[in-house]
Parts: sequence; structure tokens; C-alpha cells
Amino acid sequence: MKTGALDREKLEGGTKMKPPLGINYLCLFLVRVSMVLSTVLLLSRSPHLPHPTKTQSIADLNVPSASALSVPAVDPCTGRYIYVYDLPEKFNEDIVRDCRNLSLWADMCPFTTNAGLGPNINNTEEDGDVVLQDTGWFLTDQWMLDVIFHNCMKQYGCLTSNYSLANAIFVPYYPGLDVTRYLWDPEIARRDKLGMDLIEWLRQRPEWAARGGRDHFLVSGRSTWNLQRDLDQSYDWGSKFLVIPEVQNMTVLAVERRPWGDNEFSIPYPTYFHPSDKSQVAVWQEKVRSSERPWLFSFAGGRRPDQPEMVRNHLIDQCVQSSRCKLHECQTGGLGCNSTSNLMKLFMQSKFCLQPPGDTRARRSIFDSMLAGCVPVFFHNESAYEQYHWHLPRDFESFSVYIWEDEVKAGQVRPEDVLLQYSDEKVREMREAVIKMIPTLIYKDPRYTSENFMDAFDVAVNGVLKRFRNYSLIRNN
Ligand SMILES: *[C@@H]1O[C@H](CO)[C@@H](O)[C@H](O)[C@H]1NC(C)=O
Ligand SMILES: *[C@@H]1O[C@H](CO)[C@@H](O)[C@H](O)[C@H]1NC(C)=O
Ligand SMILES: *[C@@H]1O[C@H](CO)[C@@H](O)[C@H](O)[C@H]1NC(C)=O
Ligand SMILES: *[C@@H]1O[C@H](CO)[C@@H](O)[C@H](O)[C@H]1NC(C)=O
Ligand SMILES: *[C@@H]1O[C@H](CO)[C@@H](O)[C@H](O)[C@H]1NC(C)=O
Ligand SMILES: *[C@@H]1O[C@H](CO)[C@@H](O)[C@H](O)[C@H]1NC(C)=O
Ligand SMILES: *[C@@H]1O[C@H](CO)[C@@H](O)[C@H](O)[C@H]1NC(C)=O
Repeated sequence: MKTGALDREKLEGGTKMKPPLGINYLCLFLVRVSMVLSTVLLLSRSPHLPHPTKTQSIADLNVPSASALSVPAVDPCTGRYIYVYDLPEKFNEDIVRDCRNLSLWADMCPFTTNAGLGPNINNTEEDGDVVLQDTGWFLTDQWMLDVIFHNCMKQYGCLTSNYSLANAIFVPYYPGLDVTRYLWDPEIARRDKLGMDLIEWLRQRPEWAARGGRDHFLVSGRSTWNLQRDLDQSYDWGSKFLVIPEVQNMTVLAVERRPWGDNEFSIPYPTYFHPSDKSQVAVWQEKVRSSERPWLFSFAGGRRPDQPEMVRNHLIDQCVQSSRCKLHECQTGGLGCNSTSNLMKLFMQSKFCLQPPGDTRARRSIFDSMLAGCVPVFFHNESAYEQYHWHLPRDFESFSVYIWEDEVKAGQVRPEDVLLQYSDEKVREMREAVIKMIPTLIYKDPRYTSENFMDAFDVAVNGVLKRFRNYSLIRNN
């Protein structure tokens, strides 16, 4: 479990690619003005053009005087104000600038472009079939959420420059990317240093002193397994960021949490789709809804020859033997896994998508397959049910299938037999539930101020605000 993060998982994510495309990181510090202000401004200009300005000016723009704009006195941001620390760049931008150090094996710099979304995608499949739309698709790395989320926050409609007015305080440190640089570094002090520096910095601040960090939150684009080292030994995995007492006072959002981590909350992995507008999502949902699905089930991923007990090895064997299953096997240098359109096409042609644990229990592929309207099949309840509480409904049977991995390994249950029992009507119902969820499982292109649909970022922010509202109830009692 703790060997958490091998780069082979990256291959399955489909992000391995040719060297840089010569795209420089465009430091687009785009601002979203408050809901009030934008509503007024939208009347006079095109809503979807980015407006580059300096970050510092965001906050000032965001406490508009209601009387000056002659809008009703009701403040739509009541209970929703977020204050964002202006951190020294070593905690965020410098890590991105240092992108050559993000991987020992690949050049990650192209993936940091386009506000963390990565290069635009070629939407043509290898046989020439056009699978994806022309816009909104990117070669997004599965571990770029620190950057993407921060950029989404820059566009958030209810920012405030006065922390006393804030309902939540966002710390734009990139813990996931930070530790990624040192995961294979035997020098544990290097893995821990920046996180410790952050806490030193926060401790001096009045924002921190006000509530001991209880109203602070941050985001890790890597699973929290990488941030919970308990031994000061270089063979132990990751950093010990989460073990720091101050961090335990904060709320940590991550693509995967430890189920017992009381202050940890999971939010979806980024997919390849980052539309800038609601209508792009609707077009995609329709495409997925009408897609023909000749395959009963499919699996995209690799074997773990060194861990024969893993359920995915059994699933690959069964898939190979079944005429109803399509396998998209990913191995280093393997075909297909580097092509997003091939991967999405596979999911769009399948009724069910197997999502067994990999290096960790959750996978980015869960979200890629749901984005294609494929009903996920889980083999461990920590793959999704005990993870994405804010983003997935609690009635799991309505949108997914659960087959306990131990029963598959013991040969007591064959997934194909289980899946064959679902009627076409039932499958269609489940698929429709998945398709309806698409908007809230994806992250919008953070460079555009489109507030016209609720995405995964908005759901995450709502989750944080609700949680903190509970704290204020406790405080006031
Ligand atoms: C990044 O890697 C280079 C070359 O290996 C090294 O000189 C530099 O110190 C590294 N940067 C950080 C922040 O570790
Ligand atoms: C996109 O893929 C097609 C088919 O493989 C290829 O002909 C074309 O050159 C590719 N375009 C880019 C920009 O890579
Ligand atoms: C921030 O808000 C508090 C509470 O409303 C207020 O007392 C204070 O004057 C504000 N500070 C600034 C700089 O506006
Ligand atoms: C955690 O928050 C509480 C207030 O809820 C505060 O008393 C305590 O000092 C904080 N812990 C640290 C390590 O800052
Ligand atoms: C994917 O990888 C294969 C084998 O390495 C290569 O031949 C192919 O061109 C790659 N496709 C894309 C879209 O990068
Ligand atoms: C997940 O499985 C564990 C162990 O079987 C069980 O204790 C727990 O209640 C399950 N959680 C859910 C949400 O099903
Ligand atoms: C708020 O507190 C109540 C009572 O302790 C709890 O049931 C609920 O889940 C909490 N809500 C959130 C969003 O944390």
C-alpha cells in the first residue's frame, strides 16, 4: 500500500507522452470577480474571455460595494467567503517552475501548462476516428490537482481580502507536488522541509492565531498515503506532513484519503475533460448517452506480476478469456495507454468498467470511465464508497456494482456472471445516473469565468464550507 506511487500507474492514466511541445508555462493569473460584480459585467461583455490581471487585485475586486452597483442588499456570498493566503512562491509557483525535478523518468513540464491542465489533446484515434470534441480536452496528469485547484480558487466568486470575514481560509501550498519531487530521495529531511517551513510561516500569522487553523484547508493532488510517514527512516514512504499537529487542525482535501483520517476528504482525480462552458458538457453527455456499447465489460490497466495476489491479475485473466470483455492492457511501452482517445473510446463502448485497486485503492480511471458513461465495478469499498462522500451519492447500487475482491480471488464469484444478471433496462438506468453526475465529477477549465454549472471544485468548496459551518456552531455554543 505504502509503496503507493509508482510511475506505472501513470501509464494507466494515459499521460505518458512525447517530450515537451515547446509550450511555456503561461502564468495566467486570471481573476474571477464576485458573483455580484460578474452578473453586472456579463451584460456588457463576452462571458468566456479570460482576463489576465495580478492576483493581488482579486481580493479588492471582491468586496464590491452593493450600493455602488445598485444591486439588492442580499449578499449571495454570505456564508461562502474564502480568504486565500498570499504565500511565498516557494510553496507553490516555484515547485511548478522546478518541474524538471517532478519525475526521475519523465519530463513533467508539459503537464504543468494551461493552468495545470496540460497540453491540448489530439482528438483523433489511431484509426482516424474522431472520438473527442475539438475543445475542452487536455493531456492532464493525474497528479496535477494542487495546481488545478489553486487556479480554480483564483476564479472563485466569493473571495475576500479580509480574513475576519472569511468562512474558510485556503492555503495554496502544493503538498502533493512537493513530495513528488522527493519520493525516491533517501534524505527524509528533504521530503519534510517545505511542509515544516509552511507551518513555521503560518504560526506567525494572525489568520492562524484566530482559530488555530481550524478554518484552514488545503489540497493535495496525491493520495494522503504519500504524506503520512511515521518513521524517520528513509525506507519508510513519503513525507510526514499530515503528522504535524498544526496540519491535524486543518482540513486536507486529496484525490485519495485514509479512511480513518478524520480531517481528510477525497475529491475526484482530474480527468482529461475540462470544458469552459455548460454547453460543452451537454454535448458530451449526449454523445456518451448515444454511444453503442458492444462490450459487456472492460478493463484498462496493467498486471502486477510482482504481486500475484492482486485481484487485477485475476480480472485480466478472466477478461482475456471472455468474448464479452475488452482489455486495454497497459505495460511500459504498451500500445494504447498513451492515447486518450483510444482509452475514452474503450470506456464509451463498454457497459461496465472494472476498477480494481492498483498501487492504492482508488484510481484516476474511475473518473475517466464514468466520464464515458461506463458503470464502474468496484472490488474494494475504499476504492470509492469510503472516499468521495461529497461527490458520489450514498445509494451505491444506483450507479455502480460491488464485488468483493476476496471472492474473486477465491474463485467463488466471476464478475462476468454477476454483470450478466443486470437487465438492459437496469444497466441503462445506472448509466443514466452516471451520466447525470458527469458535471460534478470534472474540473472546469480554470482560466474561464464560467459559473454556469457546478463542477467538482464547487462541490468540494461546498463540502468544506458545510464542515466549517459545523465548527462555528460548536464555537458559538
Ligand atoms: C532540481 O534538480 C537539479 C538537478 O538535479 C538540482 O540541481 C536542483 O537543486 C533541484 N531542485 C530542487 C528544488 O531540489
Ligand atoms: C493527430 O493524430 C493523427 C492520427 O494519428 C495524426 O495524423 C496527426 O498528425 C496528429 N496531430 C497532432 C497534432 O499530433
Ligand atoms: C475586517 O473585518 C472586520 C470584521 O468585520 C472589521 O472589524 C475590520 O475592520 C475589517 N478589516 C479591514 C481591513 O477592512
Ligand atoms: C488546534 O486548534 C485549537 C483550537 O481549536 C488550538 O487551541 C490549538 O492550539 C491548535 N493546535 C495547534 C497545534 O496549533
Ligand atoms: C503510443 O505508444 C506507441 C508505442 O510506444 C507509439 O508507437 C505511438 O505512436 C504512441 N501514440 C501516441 C498517440 O503517442
Ligand atoms: C467497508 O468494509 C469494511 C470491512 O469489510 C466494513 O467494516 C465497512 O463498514 C465497509 N464500508 C462500507 C461503506 O461499506
Ligand atoms: C455536522 O455535525 C453533525 C453533528 O455532529 C454531523 O452529523 C454532520 O455530519 C456534520 N456535518 C458536516 C458537514 O460535517
